[in-house]
Amino acid sequence: MNARARENDVMTGSATSASERKFDLVKTYRPIASELEATTETLREALRRSDPAFEQYLNYSFELGGKRLRPALLLLSGKAWGAIERRHFLCAAALEMIHTGSLVHDDVLDGARFRRQLETMNAKWDSKRAVLVGDILITLALDMICDCDDSVVFREISAKCRATVEGELFQTDSSGDFELTVDDYRRVVLGKTASLIECSTFLGGYLSGARGDDLDGFASFGRSIGVAFQIVDDVLDLVGDEEKTGKTLGSDLANKKATLPVIYYLQSASASNVENFLARVERGVRPEERAEIAAILRESGAVDAAFAEASRLVDDALTTLATLERRAKELGRASSPDAFESLGAVARFVVGRDR
Ligand code: IPE
Ligand code: IPE
Ligand code: MG
Ligand code: MG
Repeated sequence: MNARARENDVMTGSATSASERKFDLVKTYRPIASELEATTETLREALRRSDPAFEQYLNYSFELGGKRLRPALLLLSGKAWGAIERRHFLCAAALEMIHTGSLVHDDVLDGARFRRQLETMNAKWDSKRAVLVGDILITLALDMICDCDDSVVFREISAKCRATVEGELFQTDSSGDFELTVDDYRRVVLGKTASLIECSTFLGGYLSGARGDDLDGFASFGRSIGVAFQIVDDVLDLVGDEEKTGKTLGSDLANKKATLPVIYYLQSASASNVENFLARVERGVRPEERAEIAAILRESGAVDAAFAEASRLVDDALTTLATLERRAKELGRASSPDAFESLGAVARFVVGRDR
């Protein structure tokens, strides 16, 4: 079975059907459309706080905006549990700001040339400016978090920012190590990607009054889809389309990162295939070799296996979400069924996406 057919097969289970994979984030975000606009306005206000001399850099990093996944998850989680208020907008905007800052830094680390369909800051200007602009974005986020005046919010965001950076540092330390285990990979991904996504669903629930096991449920939902999100990102880096993702692909092998599909391939390939593969990576994978490497990984079943793992995590997330929806009803919360439905749609988007 080829990878695409298997991908459909993996996803016709409880995750999603092939026809549903024509995801439409605009439709998925409909229950929070006006709140997302308010978040964008909060972001604009924060950008106006910085020195006008640096406007060109800061505005540039927000020109196309990306998928807005983290603010959407925060607002949907908030709406699923109760009412949305100003602190939700501040946190949603702060997380998008931190995420964007981390991407500006990540593109320096990865030597990437394109992001959100535009040149990266390090390509358009240089790494020095990219490091500094990423720092400004993160400090603008700190301002917004202070306006929340809540130590739980502050601690959660600072812990998850640290976890993001620790994940990136662990990955940097592991560069070139193709004996990396699935557990090591999970540690990287839990840190660099899942922590901020978990932070989004946690804060959405928290600010709307979720506590105890219910709050743990929101965190666990975000964590599972966060790991799945990075697994799919890593598959797309190997077999995806640069026009659709709008960013440089193929950079993981170029930077000698052992991602899940590669780990699965190395675990199952013959000794001579492993040797050939590692020799190619050692020589440096050129962009024109991407299609060939993608075919090797697809045919080996490694891409299917990575999708299956992402799909399993999304199923776990959907189970947690169903429990949360039941609890919201039991507690008689003024929650929105549409928001729960959209949270499920975002979880399914995570495995079905091509961008
Ligand atoms: C990219 O995140 C970085 C990863 C965690 C894989 P997104 O894919 O959410 O990026 P934007 O915000 O849509 O550009
Ligand atoms: C995610 O890893 C980076 C961050 C969480 C900051 P990647 O390096 O795979 O992300 P992309 O592919 O560049 O967006
Ligand atoms: Mg990168
Ligand atoms: Mg990537």
